[in-house]
Amino acid sequence: MTPGLERALSLIADVPDFPEPGILFKDITPLLDDATALGSVVEALAAPGRDDAGRPVVDKVLGMESRGFILGAPVALALGVGFVPVRKAGKLPRPTYAVSYALEYGEATLEVHQDALQPGDRVLLVDDVLATGGTAKATVDLVGMCGGSVHAVAMLMELSFLPGRAALDGVPLTTLLSV
Ligand code: PRP
Ligand code: MG
Repeated sequence: MTPGLERALSLIADVPDFPEPGILFKDITPLLDDATALGSVVEALAAPGRDDAGRPVVDKVLGMESRGFILGAPVALALGVGFVPVRKAGKLPRPTYAVSYALEYGEATLEVHQDALQPGDRVLLVDDVLATGGTAKATVDLVGMCGGSVHAVAMLMELSFLPGRAALDGVPLTTLLSV
C-alpha cells in the first residue's frame, strides 16, 4: 500500500453508537473532504479495472446508491468509461430490471435500467462497504440480467466479521481496508 493510500484510509473516522447504540459507524466524509486522499482512493478502486499496462479492461463502472455513487463516478472517469447508477426501488424513470434481497428486518430492492449495458459488457462494481454482501450480490445479479459480466468488485472497506465475501460466489473482490 502506498503512503498516500495509507494516509487516506487513516482519515476514516470511527463514530460509536451510530445509527444505533452498539454500532461503530465508519464515517468516510473526512476522507472525501481531502482532495489528495480522495484521489488516492479513487485510483486504488480503479486499479482492478485496469490491466498490467494500466489500460482499462472494463466497459462500465456500476455504483450502488447512495455511497457507491460518490466513489463510483470518479472511478469511471479515471478509467475513461461510463458510469451506471444502481438505484433503490422506484427512482429510475425508464424500464428496469429489479432484484430484491433480505435485510436484517425486511427486504430491499435495487434496480438498473434495462439498456444500461450492451450484451457482453464487462463491468467494475464500486461501493464503500461490503457488509453482508446483499447489495453487491444483488448488483451482480442485475449485471447478469443486463447481459453483462462482472470483471471485479472494488470496495473501500470490508467488514470481515460478516460473510460478504462468501456472498459474492467467487467474483474477484478488492477491498482497500478490512475492519
Ligand atoms: C450501505 C453501504 C453498502 C451496503 C453494504 O448502504 O453503503 O452499500 O450498506 O451492506 P450489505 O453488504 O449488507 O448489503 P446503505 O444502503 O445502508 O446506505 P447508503 O444509501 O448511505 O449507501
Ligand atoms: Mg450503500
